[in-house]
Amino acid sequence: MSALAPVFAQYPLEVERAEGVWLYAPGGRRVLDLYGGHAVAALGYGHAGWTRALEMQAAACQFQSNAVPMAVRERAGERLLRFAGGHYDSVFLVNSGAEANENALKMAFRMTGRPHVVAVEGSFHGRTAAAGALTWGARDKWHAFPRTPFDVSWLPRREAAAIAQHVTHDTAAVIVEPVQGVGGAFDMGADYLRALRRRCDEVGALLIFDEVQCGMGRVGQPFAANLYGVVPDMITTAKALGNGFPCAALLMTPHVTKAIKLETLGTTFGGGPMAAAAILAVIDAIEHEALLANVRRVSQYVRATCRVGPVAGFQGEGFLLGLRLSRPAKDVQAALLARDILTGTSGDPQVLRLLPPFILQEEHVDLLKGALAAL
Ligand SMILES: Cc1ncc(COP(=O)(O)O)c(C=O)c1O
Repeated sequence: MSALAPVFAQYPLEVERAEGVWLYAPGGRRVLDLYGGHAVAALGYGHAGWTRALEMQAAACQFQSNAVPMAVRERAGERLLRFAGGHYDSVFLVNSGAEANENALKMAFRMTGRPHVVAVEGSFHGRTAAAGALTWGARDKWHAFPRTPFDVSWLPRREAAAIAQHVTHDTAAVIVEPVQGVGGAFDMGADYLRALRRRCDEVGALLIFDEVQCGMGRVGQPFAANLYGVVPDMITTAKALGNGFPCAALLMTPHVTKAIKLETLGTTFGGGPMAAAAILAVIDAIEHEALLANVRRVSQYVRATCRVGPVAGFQGEGFLLGLRLSRPAKDVQAALLARDILTGTSGDPQVLRLLPPFILQEEHVDLLKGALAAL
């Protein structure tokens, strides 16, 4: 019996090592990874620049807290703001997606003094008290807290007409994944996101884009905010940000930054020098290896070639891609894994989710196509 708490259902695949887009099981079985460890392994495995950056930072100084100035932390913050395209002027570095969301909410409550948050049906924002309260279906599934820490109302996905009724002068914040991940690679679209921006401006609520899963290049742009041309007041991001070194970030626009005072927010590990080195290495690789263009091109190739076997259509953006199926996704996932291809399911039982490393090439997609066609 395992010493680990039995929290997660286990894939029938043990990973011993990995390289590029390939996972290797004990005994040498090789599996194509189209899931990237839940959207984390953006650069694939064994990336030389990322590995070197962590080795060098570990040798130089593995940790000092945020109270101690460190150039590597400063550089990571600046680089991340530049990567996001210039609308944000400060970043708070934390450890996980849920923690980034909690801090974004704290800022919204502090700035507005209002009691109410609006989230979108199908969303996933994390497993802590506040993030869990904003996660669709959490109450039934795993939300063990006796009550939510604030009032929440739920917006239907993509229904701009419903926004005004839910987002009111009592609303502190609207939180939305521009492309839902767990919800099934479901893209909200520019019109809906623009309507949310307009309504938040009308009533003085803050707009938070949860880009924990869809951000950091996954949609073929730095963030989905760039893709849709909408500037939220805050962006949260994690997963691909560290390529597996745990880290997350809250990016803030100038008027949010202005509301921060000493001790408003805090963390021990967040923004540690190892995390900072990982963030710098990820952005270096994305920019110097033209990975955004690769994501756009290869994602298009999936759409152009993989409408075979059980695949009826596509949804999502870039490498947060949903394959809409004529059969249950969990059956197709199992059948693909039997053919040495790892994919993910989602909250939508008919949608298979692909979250591959950004280095994926057409030759790998051809393997997927062949396996799908044989199902
Ligand atoms: C969109 C989104 N937000 C938040 C989270 C929570 O992130 P973490 O597990 O790092 O707390 C996730 C995790 O899957 C996510 O997909």
